[in-house]
Amino acid sequence: MSTFLLDSRQSTKGQCARQRPGGSGAAGGRTPIVRGRRPVEGRSEGAIGHVPVLATELVELLDLRPGQVAIDCTFGGGGHAQLVAQRLGSRGTLIAIDRDPLAEERFAELSSQVACSVRFIRASYAEALELLTEEGARADAVYFDLGMSSMQVDTRERGFSYSFQAPLDMRMDPGQKLDARAILANYDQRALTRLLRDFGEEKHAAAIARAIVNSRAQHPIESTSQLVDLINSAIPVPARFAGSHPAKRVFQALRIAVNDELGQLDRSLPLAFSLLRAGGVLAAISFHSLEDRRVKRFLAARARGCICPPDFPICACGREPEAQLVKNRAITPSASEVTRNPRAASARMRAARKLTEEEARP
Ligand SMILES: C[S@@+](CC[C@H](N)C(=O)[O-])C[C@H]1O[C@@H](n2cnc3c(N)ncnc32)[C@H](O)[C@@H]1O
Repeated sequence: MSTFLLDSRQSTKGQCARQRPGGSGAAGGRTPIVRGRRPVEGRSEGAIGHVPVLATELVELLDLRPGQVAIDCTFGGGGHAQLVAQRLGSRGTLIAIDRDPLAEERFAELSSQVACSVRFIRASYAEALELLTEEGARADAVYFDLGMSSMQVDTRERGFSYSFQAPLDMRMDPGQKLDARAILANYDQRALTRLLRDFGEEKHAAAIARAIVNSRAQHPIESTSQLVDLINSAIPVPARFAGSHPAKRVFQALRIAVNDELGQLDRSLPLAFSLLRAGGVLAAISFHSLEDRRVKRFLAARARGCICPPDFPICACGREPEAQLVKNRAITPSASEVTRNPRAASARMRAARKLTEEEARP
């Protein structure tokens, strides 16, 4: 974990890690060519910035005032953080978290442009929120914009995208040991099937897992194109061309497993909520149902209070609501946002406000 605290008026030049994600470009695919959609060759021409999703809606519902404290758990390209920092003014504090050194570089650029005090913690958000809890930090807003950034997808050599030929890496923290190659090399067929089914909701999970195990007995599976060919060969021909890309769910499942995305979220939601001051807001933007379901259940439980089984005639647990949902339904992007930024299409935002003591015990 690396962390530094800055008054934004200090220059940040040279204070962030300048590490670039490694990667040697294409690792030759030796799987026979199968008809289907395949990745394109070539290295990225430099990652373009991240367009923040549901940005206006997020800033509105956080409703931050000058002098307050906000924690951005997924800094990425800093799109949300920049807007939030404007609301915090010169007396406010922005704490930004990300496990990717590329985000730390972006943070260094942003921190010289905003008026508030800023701090960056390079770590997983579960670790960082634990650290902040130990330090006794308090915040008026804690928010997550889950999943990967456009910068990560567009840096082809990091292997997040099934559209580009690259080594199968998918680590958000390039210092982490586990990568997608290791999973494909070491998980047994049952574990692979479960991973593809549980994290990718992939209906051809068993067939794809079998194909992975058979293929790796001949040669290691190292590149995105090898994996895409293998998926195409394992699924029925119509499924190769119908609907979304046939590799989409497998890549999502591997990325979730490599980065322990669901475990991180489960550990972090209670920490984030407990860091909030009374009246503070917890918000999360999800991009698939596995995340959204977790956020929805967590916030609903805080808003409900009582956890007695529904057939109990009266409450025996005595728990009171601790939060109020900002909206009962998820907030989704407008049609015009999706037209401008198609990556926003599956976004769903949920949020809840922590009740004050008077509100909690009327
Ligand atoms: C969708 S992007 C955030 C984009 C950002 N809101 C913006 O406006 O530019 C998600 C970011 O969260 C980071 N991330 C995902 N899971 C993480 C975790 N468990 N701990 C720390 N960072 C994480 C990724 O590295 C990525 O940079």
